[in-house]
Amino acid sequence: MDIFDKVVNHMGALGKFSDMGYGYYFFPKLEGEISNRMTFRGRDMLVWSLNNYLGLANHPEVRHADAEAAAKYGMGYPMGARMMSGQTIYHEQLEHELAAFEHKEAAYLLNFGYMGMVSIIDSLIDRHDVVVYDSEAHACILDGLRMHLGKRFVYPHNNMERFEQQLKHAKNVTDKTGGGILVITEGVYGMAGDCGDLRGILKFKDQYGFRLLIDDAHGFGTMGRTGAGTSEEQDVMDQVDVYFGTFAKAMAGIGAFVATEKKIIKALAFNMRSQIYAKSLPMPMVIGALKRMELIRNHPELKDTLWTIVNALQKGLKAKGFDLGKTNSPVTPVYFQGGIGEATQIVADLREEHAIFCSMVAYPVVPKGVLMLRLIPTAIHTLEDVDYTINAFSEVKKKLDSGKYNSGIIPPLADKY
Ligand SMILES: Cc1ncc(COP(=O)(O)O)c(C=O)c1O
Repeated sequence: MDIFDKVVNHMGALGKFSDMGYGYYFFPKLEGEISNRMTFRGRDMLVWSLNNYLGLANHPEVRHADAEAAAKYGMGYPMGARMMSGQTIYHEQLEHELAAFEHKEAAYLLNFGYMGMVSIIDSLIDRHDVVVYDSEAHACILDGLRMHLGKRFVYPHNNMERFEQQLKHAKNVTDKTGGGILVITEGVYGMAGDCGDLRGILKFKDQYGFRLLIDDAHGFGTMGRTGAGTSEEQDVMDQVDVYFGTFAKAMAGIGAFVATEKKIIKALAFNMRSQIYAKSLPMPMVIGALKRMELIRNHPELKDTLWTIVNALQKGLKAKGFDLGKTNSPVTPVYFQGGIGEATQIVADLREEHAIFCSMVAYPVVPKGVLMLRLIPTAIHTLEDVDYTINAFSEVKKKLDSGKYNSGIIPPLADKY
């Protein structure tokens, strides 16, 4: 068997749709300035798919700081990995600020959240240790676990009864191996928008003696009184052992960080392979992140505006009878009954008839027969955008309920790869 033949014959869970919507459903191009309105295929669209929660992507001070740092240092600086030649006072300063913001002793920057999380897990545990994790954990957590040579036990999403059962299994194993238990959950679950039950998890901490790692990619900057995240929201900052946040969402940048005890940061800095064997975060990313942190700390109105839009959108959709599941974060899923056929037609209708751009999620991410449209409100949306969208969704729902979208037909809106 030729490897190339195999690859093209088995394109994978997403790849099998590659001829069914390239440039439309997959790899669409949103053009123009990052905003609530952007251009898609030459048309102005109201966009609800960007994790630019606080509207920082195009904040004038952010754009200025990014550009100034790029002009001063270029994108190459610093060259090399942190450990070898890529250390700067700005990297250290950003780490100090992130640690203080998260009420932790220390923090360490990560080039990408995804790779960083893989290496955090890899560095914290060995084959004697056991991981207990939520069934809806993000791919970066699952990929970190792929490298784990010891046992792991998964519990159904936020199910605390099953969580305790899995802790018991874990304890039985670690009693024999002499290892420890690491529990991993997300802060905000990025698809459904509900939060990890941190308080529920922590009730078992003393009894089972585990350490808790949370991936708060969607909670950092959006949740909690100061924006410090889901652990602040649930008032458990001091009990979360390892906090992970990314710059890819509320910070509208790139890069990520981990915050925890100083001695653990030291151990991570000397062991995280995706950071040791990779180039340091470029200076514009670091200086740009410092500016974003300054804005997050000094301008709570950014988060307040985000939540005004979130509340108006979620309340308005619920009032019209839409099912938003269990979200208690800005992530706004709207569930419908239907399959991939209906989903693609609804998305096309929203784009073509209503000039609304949002993302769709279908099986296997949600159960068969369910489809989800996912809206991401931001601080740069307006209440008019919200009203307009709720009305458009109501029209689409009427059509769906009266059988106007059928299950088999995929609209011919795709380009060729
Ligand atoms: C829950 C979660 N963890 C980790 C990541 C990865 O972060 P990054 O984009 O910084 O690699 C993402 C997002 O993309 C995410 O949603």
